[in-house]
Formats: sequence, structure tokens, C-alpha cells
Amino acid sequence: MSPTYDALKLPSHIKTILVSGAGGFVGQELVKLLLELFPDVKLIATDIIEPPRLIDDEKRFKAIKADLGHTSQVEALFEGEQIGGVFALHGIMSGGAEANFDLGYAVNVDSNLNLLKQAHSHANEHAFKPTYVFVSSLAVYGGPKAVPESRVIPQDTPVIAKTSYGIQKQIMEMYVYDYGRKGYLDTRSIRLPSVTIRPGAPSTAASSFLSGIVREPLQGVESICPIASSIDDPILDSMPWYCTRTKTLVRNVAYAMCMPETEFKKYEGLGRSINLPGIKVMPRQMIDALVEHGGKDKLKLVKFEKDQAVIDIASTWAGDYDSSPSESMGFENDDPATGYSMAVKDFKELLEAQGKLA
Ligand SMILES: NC(=O)c1ccc[n+]([C@@H]2O[C@H](COP(=O)([O-])OP(=O)(O)OC[C@H]3O[C@@H](n4cnc5c(N)ncnc54)[C@H](O)[C@@H]3O)[C@@H](O)[C@H]2O)c1
Repeated sequence: MSPTYDALKLPSHIKTILVSGAGGFVGQELVKLLLELFPDVKLIATDIIEPPRLIDDEKRFKAIKADLGHTSQVEALFEGEQIGGVFALHGIMSGGAEANFDLGYAVNVDSNLNLLKQAHSHANEHAFKPTYVFVSSLAVYGGPKAVPESRVIPQDTPVIAKTSYGIQKQIMEMYVYDYGRKGYLDTRSIRLPSVTIRPGAPSTAASSFLSGIVREPLQGVESICPIASSIDDPILDSMPWYCTRTKTLVRNVAYAMCMPETEFKKYEGLGRSINLPGIKVMPRQMIDALVEHGGKDKLKLVKFEKDQAVIDIASTWAGDYDSSPSESMGFENDDPATGYSMAVKDFKELLEAQGKLA
């Protein structure tokens, strides 16, 4: 029988978990969930910006501001601790890594390698082998087998990234795999689909409009849909986006640490890297979900301004992925028919709680 979330249980050597990128979108949600799921585990949340201090109990929770580009700051995180699990989430996202080549490599590769090496040194000092979850991205795929019409089959699709961000993730996956192969750490890489709905301000990423199409109008702000010239444009029914609901994803990330090493060793041929499940969503479904949860008047806030540059980038994204390997391991997926609408509902509730819903 496949494992289920009832099996959300940490291996016994994990008494303390370090989460990098804990001040970011996924990191903040992950830390909240870990605190809820594992009351007996100590959490160290770190980020270059001060991560939110979620609870006031030094024995259970530490929030540490650190730049992981500095070896001494990485060493300090492990000092005097018994870190049995690491979630490596920090990074520079696709738009930023493309715009600033040096920064992308410095953070997505160099500082990630600092963290990996330090986890290895830590393992050498203790009698246990830390479980290391590297958070990667489906952006490692590109090329002719990863276009909107494709359904990427991991075993058949070479990993050829088309962006610096994707290449940086690919490089780190290889490092992480080798530390696992050598037996230094129990490593696994999980490739995330786009996580939706991303809160906060619009980013410079070409994909930003995909969250923005819902996020801004629900707050009474205009958003631009750069792939269509009007609501009747057929492209809204033919340019798929592969995504996952934030709640589902965060649970899957936590689950990635619970699985025995043997499960990931089955994917030795794929570098112990797993594509997390997602769903294929058409832009029309997003607009329908906006109307469903925000009302018809919100549609007036979506401005259709076709931008060929964005279409060209979106044309390099694979529309669908075979997620049966990760689903058979017990990672959860959203319902393709209702998953996106659920993500919008969650986001609407968040805005309501923050008093930002228009
Ligand atoms: N959000 C998505 O849709 C998505 C999709 C695929 C993969 N991912 C991956 O998931 C992870 C988390 O993504 P996110 O959306 O939360 O990103 P995010 O940008 O919200 O968070 C990343 C965090 O890393 C921190 N950081 C950057 N440089 C640092 C440094 N030198 N030292 C310490 N911290 C530093 C940032 O301050 C930020 O808080 C990333 O590795 C990302 O590549 C995310």
C-alpha cells in the first residue's frame, strides 16, 4: 500500500530541523506547518531577512538572520545543535537569477553548497546522518520535450534547463545527489511546480501574471493578462500552466523529510530527484475561479494586453508532467477540476483575515 499523510512521521534521529529561506513565501508556510505537526521537534528558521518569530520559546524555535553566502554564518547555525534534518529552500527566483547572473550563482549554487558542506561536517561530528531536502524546481526541464503540448515523463525527458535559474537548480541537484551517493547525508531533491496563489507584490518573473490574474483583482487592483488580447482569445484555452495549491505543496515538502532513504534510492537513476505533483490549468480556469470567488465585477480589473515576449517565454514551459512516481510515494495531488479554485478560495480567506479583500 502506498504511504499516506497518516505516515507524516519524522525518522527518530530528527530532533532539530533547520529551514533556510524561512522568511520567504514557501519557507514561512513550511515553518508554520512543521510547528503544528511536530510539537516535540526544535526548529531553526533562517533567512537573510529576519524570519518571523512565530513562537516565543527558545527551546523549540529559533529565528536567525544569516547570509548563507558567508561560511562563518552557516557554521554558526549548526554550532551547539544536533540538526537531524535540513530543508534547503533559500534562493533567488527565476526572474532575479536571469536578471542578475552573478547573484543567481552566488546564492543558488555557492551559498547552497556552503549549507550542504556544513551539513556534512555536522554529520561527521554526530552519530546520525542528517536528512537533507533540497528544494528544486521543474525549471530544470526545457528543450523540445518540455513545451506547452508536452506531458513530461521523467524517465524519458532529459533535464536541460533553459534559464540560469533552472541550470543552477540542476547543478545543486547533482551536488546533493553526490553527497547522498557517497553516504555522507540522506539526500533528496524535490522539484516544485509553480506554487499558487503567491501572495505579496507582483514580481518581475514572466510567470508573475499567473498569480497576479487573481491576486490583484481580489484586492481591487488592476492586473494585466499579457497572453491574450481579450476574454475571447482562444489562447486562454490552449496555454496550460502546471501548478500546485500552496497547502498541498507545503504538506508535500514536509512529507519529503518523512520518507525513508530507500524510497529515494529507487530513483538513483534520476539523481534522487522527484517531480512533485501538480495540475494542468488553463488561464480560462483561472479567470473562472476569479469570478467564482470574487464576483463578476472583478473581471473588469483584468486588462488584456498581449505581449509577445511573455508568450514566447510561456511557450517554453511544459504544460503537463507525469507525477505518478511521486504520487506512488505518497505525495499528494490536487484535483485537476477543482484544485485551482481551492487555491483561490484559500487566498481569498487569507486576504479576508488580513483585511485586504476588496
Ligand atoms: N514559489 C514557487 O512557485 C516555486 C516553484 C518552484 C521552486 N521553488 C523553490 O522553492 C524555494 C522557496 O521559494 P519561495 O517562493 O518561497 O521563494 P522566496 O523568494 O519567497 O524565498 C526565498 C528566500 O531565500 C532568501 N535568501 C536569498 N538569498 C539568501 C542568502 N544569501 N542567505 C539566506 N537566505 C537567502 C530570501 O530572503 C527569501 O526569503 C526556492 O528554492 C525556489 O527556487 C519555488
